[in-house]
Amino acid sequence: MKLNYAHQRILITGASAGIGRDMARQLAAYGPKALILVARRREALEALKLELQEQYPTVAVYICAYDLSERQQIDALLRTVSREVGAVDILINNAGMGDYGLFENADWAKLEQMLRLNIEALTYLTYKLVPPMIALGRGAVLNISSGFGLLFMPGMSVYAASKHYVTAFTDALRGELRGTGVIVSQACPGPVATEFGEHSGTQGTIPAGLMMSSEACAREILDGLARGRALFIPGKLVSIGTNLGRLMPRPLLRLALRPMRRRLLKSESPRFEPVSVN
Ligand SMILES: NC(=O)c1ccc[n+]([C@@H]2O[C@H](COP(=O)([O-])OP(=O)(O)OC[C@H]3O[C@@H](n4cnc5c(N)ncnc54)[C@H](OP(=O)(O)O)[C@@H]3O)[C@@H](O)[C@H]2O)c1
Repeated sequence: MKLNYAHQRILITGASAGIGRDMARQLAAYGPKALILVARRREALEALKLELQEQYPTVAVYICAYDLSERQQIDALLRTVSREVGAVDILINNAGMGDYGLFENADWAKLEQMLRLNIEALTYLTYKLVPPMIALGRGAVLNISSGFGLLFMPGMSVYAASKHYVTAFTDALRGELRGTGVIVSQACPGPVATEFGEHSGTQGTIPAGLMMSSEACAREILDGLARGRALFIPGKLVSIGTNLGRLMPRPLLRLALRPMRRRLLKSESPRFEPVSVN
């Protein structure tokens, strides 16, 4: 099934930066009916709205500054969208965050926010916005997972687990919605040069040569969704590398990743004391 972006009402989470912002820029060129841009930073969304409206004056751009890790704010977002735009034709669950380091040393508040954003917000938005698509017999959901939704990596345990959820959820939902006219796709990017590195602490851990540009990644993602593909990995080299990793027997992969704790301990100390309970 193919998807045309023209005349569609498209909601993109995490549109204030990185891959989400580049997807918004590229989608605007197709002449959608409405672009609903969601993220926390209002100023960044406003700057993007100005940029898009200058270039594409016929596209209606809506700014929705909400924190998706808060359930009440997602409900407020849904009310705003229903009042101002009506139904959503294409939902792009892109907002996500990561964390790098030993699990024992992680900040629980950050992990909790990650689980709420990467898993709960994505699932809840899909739960709320898909039924009207089924009723209309058309629509699409695109979830941005990760190469870590297919593989795993010590140092990113909770992030990889959250993306495994996204991958399994998306594949299963695609199966359920077969024949309804609603496309369900997912992208599993490798390293992309965005703010993600700085916020997750992965900056400097990946050679710059392996990084894909956010613009190129967004282009491949939108192409994959337009073709109605189930799961795609942007970037030829990353795609080959990830698929080789997937073919590797799990015990071999565990063996290859054994030195990771020692590597992580070069930049942080092990935690011996118990975590305090408030
Ligand atoms: N970059 C990579 O290497 C890479 C690789 C594989 C997969 N991915 C996935 O790709 C997606 C996009 O990542 P990116 O690389 O573009 O990251 P990014 O540059 O850090 O952008 C993340 C976006 O999510 C928004 N966001 C974060 N927390 C939010 C919250 N609580 N509520 C609402 N919005 C929130 C941010 O906006 P505000 O800060 O304004 O809220 C921003 O717009 C994520 O799901 C990520 O896991 C990234």
